[in-house]
Amino acid sequence: MDKILVEGGQPLSGEAKVSGAKNTILPLMATAILCDGPLILGNIPRLKDLVTMARLLQHMGGRADMDGERAELDLSSLTSPVAPYEVVKTMRASSLVLGPLLARHGEARVSLPGGCAIGARPIDLHLKALESMGARIDLDGGYVVARAPAGGLKGARIHFETVTVTGTENLMMAATLARGRTVITGAAREPEVVDTAQALLAMGARISGHGTDEVIIDGVDLLRPASYWAMPDRIEAGTLIAAAAISGGEALLRGVPHAALEAVYSKIREAGVELHEDDDNLLVKAGGPIRSVNIVTQPHPGFPTDMQAQFMALMTIGDKASIITETIFENRFMHVSELNRLGADITMEGRTAVVSGVRRLSGAPMMATDLRASASLILAALAAHGPSEISRVYHLDRGYDRLDEKLASLGARIKRVKD
Ligand code: UD1
Repeated sequence: MDKILVEGGQPLSGEAKVSGAKNTILPLMATAILCDGPLILGNIPRLKDLVTMARLLQHMGGRADMDGERAELDLSSLTSPVAPYEVVKTMRASSLVLGPLLARHGEARVSLPGGCAIGARPIDLHLKALESMGARIDLDGGYVVARAPAGGLKGARIHFETVTVTGTENLMMAATLARGRTVITGAAREPEVVDTAQALLAMGARISGHGTDEVIIDGVDLLRPASYWAMPDRIEAGTLIAAAAISGGEALLRGVPHAALEAVYSKIREAGVELHEDDDNLLVKAGGPIRSVNIVTQPHPGFPTDMQAQFMALMTIGDKASIITETIFENRFMHVSELNRLGADITMEGRTAVVSGVRRLSGAPMMATDLRASASLILAALAAHGPSEISRVYHLDRGYDRLDEKLASLGARIKRVKD
């Protein structure tokens, strides 16, 4: 198992390019199930989760070739509409195949995901919505067994009481091949939902309203082969911004999706860090004191839960106290006790953390618990005096394209070693 060693205290300086977005490429790969031929995707980063999704599609009898930044997928001769437990337990987003399988093949057998480090994360809202499109859903041995009615899924009015990103994507994909019109209200407005809709439009789907909380989909008979270039990863960009900020350095980031990062930019600027936008480049300039800022995570366009841990790392060296409230996931504070081991002063009350800024963090061994928590520990290690060692970095590799290499290219003293 790999470990990451960091010798903190070095201000970052240099350039890095933002990779393609994990959370858009996962649903994009699932759209291949709907397509009547090959789907070519570009801007593919090296991520464990994408390899897992490719394996899942291959397991179903499809072709999923990943070659550098390009993926070529062909699920037109899919033989087995099954997502087995062994795969789903390692990646919850596997449930994104449910809607496409039902729409195109009329049946699906997808393992229930179970819990994960950051909370229960059920898929009940996906299932209820598919039922309103006429699907019959049964549970059998830990699997969701879903069947479309004779003649296929039918358009429906669907309201999500809780905003769900993959739920919106699952239903939007299912509705592209359903009979008639589907209207989703309470839809997620995340940029990744918009990117997925745009890829479906390139395949011939009829969708409007994506990016608002009401998405309208008119079913078509088939989706045709297409090529699509995935958007850059706003969370990776946000993580690199936080890295430059916490190190007191300066970084030029290339390929940054500014519009998707408004809430993050606003909080980073409030914290006293300069951000200069130029085309799709972003110059991050830190160096002065970090000001303590409060955040509340919200669905897009609010502050993203996927940036909460990294922002908390930055707040550990703030000038006063910062109140961080997590409203999306019930247990997304696993990084708190690890950050405190570096000398941070964070106390918890329910879904709120109070981060009292300290003058200095000092390096320590830490253990990664989930994807974004891993990134926050690395950020804190960049600011800490002395060496840190972060173990269980397989969490990090699920969703970051070699974050350690990018930080090293920005001048961080960081290296990966085998245990
Ligand atoms: C997606 C992102 C994840 C991000 C999250 C919130 C992907 C692959 N993952 O996850 O990185 O942190 O959005 O922005 O895109 N819920 C239910 N029932 C459901 C579905 C969701 O109760 O059927 C709850 C969840 O437990 C959570 C909230 O709704 O409390 C939002 O979750 P959701 O938006 O669905 O997260 P994911 O789509 O799994």
